[in-house]
Amino acid sequence: MTPSATGTGVSGEGFQPPARVVMIGAGQLARMTYQAAVDYGVALHVLATSADDPAVTAGAALSLGAYDRVGDLVAAAGHGDVLTFDHELVPPAHLRTLEDMGHVLQPNASALAFAQDKLHARRLLGGVGRLPVPMPAFAPAGTADDIAAFAVTHGWPVVAKARGGGYDGRGVHVLAGPDDARRLLPGSPGTAEPEWVVEEHLDISAELAILVARRPSGQFVSYPPVGTRQEDGMCRELVMPADVPAEVAGEATRLAESIVAGIDATGICAIELFWVADGRLLLNELALRPHNSGHATIEACVTSQFHQHLRAVLDWPLGPTTLVRPAAATVNLVGGAQGVDYAVRLPGALGVPGAHVHLYAKASRPGRKVGHVTALGASTEEALDTARTAAAILTEP
Ligand SMILES: Nc1ncnc2c1ncn2[C@@H]1O[C@H](COP(=O)(O)OP(=O)(O)OP(=O)(O)O)[C@@H](O)[C@H]1O
Ligand SMILES: [Mg+2]
Repeated sequence: MTPSATGTGVSGEGFQPPARVVMIGAGQLARMTYQAAVDYGVALHVLATSADDPAVTAGAALSLGAYDRVGDLVAAAGHGDVLTFDHELVPPAHLRTLEDMGHVLQPNASALAFAQDKLHARRLLGGVGRLPVPMPAFAPAGTADDIAAFAVTHGWPVVAKARGGGYDGRGVHVLAGPDDARRLLPGSPGTAEPEWVVEEHLDISAELAILVARRPSGQFVSYPPVGTRQEDGMCRELVMPADVPAEVAGEATRLAESIVAGIDATGICAIELFWVADGRLLLNELALRPHNSGHATIEACVTSQFHQHLRAVLDWPLGPTTLVRPAAATVNLVGGAQGVDYAVRLPGALGVPGAHVHLYAKASRPGRKVGHVTALGASTEEALDTARTAAAILTEP
């Protein structure tokens, strides 16, 4: 059996799937999208780097290949009518090539650029949509001197971010002074275009994520705002709805919707916002794909973000985003120094009433997201308490 024939997806004998979707990447987001594809009878084909990738072990049909090799992308693209993504790492030139060949990318290459390059997003979003997008003060940075020059105006500490390729806080550095800047960027600039963005360090009251789903024909829906809590730049816990005043939630939603429409994004989009101590609501970054902040939607909302993503990229009617209980919480399962024996741990976690456990079938490694637990409740506290109890059983030494 050749790799591309492995996994039959959902197409049984004689069954004509209502649509064929290709997803580039086969991590946990593709795994959960595949679960939704099964519900709809949609044939989901993934471009995987390994037969051990989470979407592949779940049963998705696959091509084996690299997301940065155009030939592999083209081969995978042939397995579907619509191409979508579980990460933002495909080189922009390859995205253009696929579009030039006539493949339908949802979201399209121009929209994806806003999620791929933090400097591009910061530079261009000021002028997008009905309202200019409020953002932290920022500057391009190629050298430690660029960072120090920015700090003259904005003060230390500052936050330096790699323009692309970062996730879970990798690529984000808080710099206390010029020595930190020199340690990060010891050399002189080797390239014409700076590879870093430097930003003012914000006093953040709350981090929000607004999930918006948008169809190519323009219809869009938003989910209740999610509140996220990070440790070392990595998201650990999420609550839905976020604990912010109604005016802030409303403004955040309007801002997110205007960004998504302004850049012509399609599919599910996550707009990460900072609510800062001085009252400003500022754009952090955006992801144009299913997102960690939306995992609670699987149990908490009438339509999960994964079902919604498929509906949106296929230009099918979007589903209601309403919460089915007053509150939901998700706790990410992050690998520690020791591996975890899930055969021993999982039954214990499932013994916590109301805990919904999701394991991504990824080996536990320090700092790696290997699953999540969601719980619903009459209050955020109740939901968090349940999810934390089950998560502790699964991860604590
Ligand atoms: N300007 C800032 N001031 C203070 N804290 C910041 C700032 N920018 C980012 N952070 C913190 O660092 C975290 C990670 O930043 P960012 O979302 O840009 O990185 P990332 O690695 O791309 O994230 P993700 O895990 O969402 O992919 C933020 O969630 C926030 O907690
Ligand atoms: Mg982020």
